[in-house]
Amino acid sequence: MKITVIYATQRKLKSSTYNIAQRFIQNLSEKDSVREFFLPKDMPNFCAGCWNCFTDYRNCPDYGYLKPILESMLEADMLIFTAPVYVYHVPGQVKAFLDHFGYQWMAHQPRKEMFHKQVLLISTAAGAGTRSTLRDLKDSMTFWGISRIYTFGRSVYGSDWDTVADERKAKLQKEIDRLSAKIKGKRRPITPSLKVKALFYSMRFMHKKFKFNPADVRYWESLGWLEKERPW
Ligand SMILES: Cc1cc2nc3c(=O)[nH]c(=O)nc-3n(C[C@H](O)[C@H](O)[C@H](O)COP(=O)(O)O)c2cc1C
Repeated sequence: MKITVIYATQRKLKSSTYNIAQRFIQNLSEKDSVREFFLPKDMPNFCAGCWNCFTDYRNCPDYGYLKPILESMLEADMLIFTAPVYVYHVPGQVKAFLDHFGYQWMAHQPRKEMFHKQVLLISTAAGAGTRSTLRDLKDSMTFWGISRIYTFGRSVYGSDWDTVADERKAKLQKEIDRLSAKIKGKRRPITPSLKVKALFYSMRFMHKKFKFNPADVRYWESLGWLEKERPW
């Protein structure tokens, strides 16, 4: 399984989310390639709000940073995102990253490749907040058209991996193994969920009827999605 990982921070050995992600990767990657990107190093900018991407995503002022990440995500079978909880939500650099993919939401120009992917979202908190943090990521994944979304949110009761109790680490390992087995057991090719299909059809209706943004309508037309073609 080809995997692309986007880490929310550049912390490694001391990071609980990084260590949990490594255990998943060990279980899931087999002999295939794993490409890793670290925020904010690999995408350090905020969205400028210029709207260029809604006409052509290659005109984003940050496209130089985004291109290798996007290409890697499109090639991957599985995406992994990590996010420690920062004040109950994703760290700012994750939000900034996701903002750059607004054009790729289902209402605009979703990528065909996303409809066959699985994504694993990992979050840790010292005490609470993984639910709302995972939600931040999950919204984008759903609207990108990702077909299968798995979440792994845990409170680790520590400020970093060194301070997480050994019994908790052992329990986490068991839970990681269980979810890894579920992900690996998923029959392929991956088919879209009902929710993703429902979103696709409601946006298709909108484009056919209201034609809000000409660039979006041209995009859907060019792929035949307003006729008989489907992204799955
Ligand atoms: C700026 C900041 C905000 C945080 N906010 C929360 C919070 O709202 N709830 C919580 O339980 N932990 C919070 N934490 C703690 C981290 O979520 C927790 O230690 C997490 O496991 C860190 O992940 P990491 O080791 O991968 O960096 C915060 C930490 C930082 C640095």
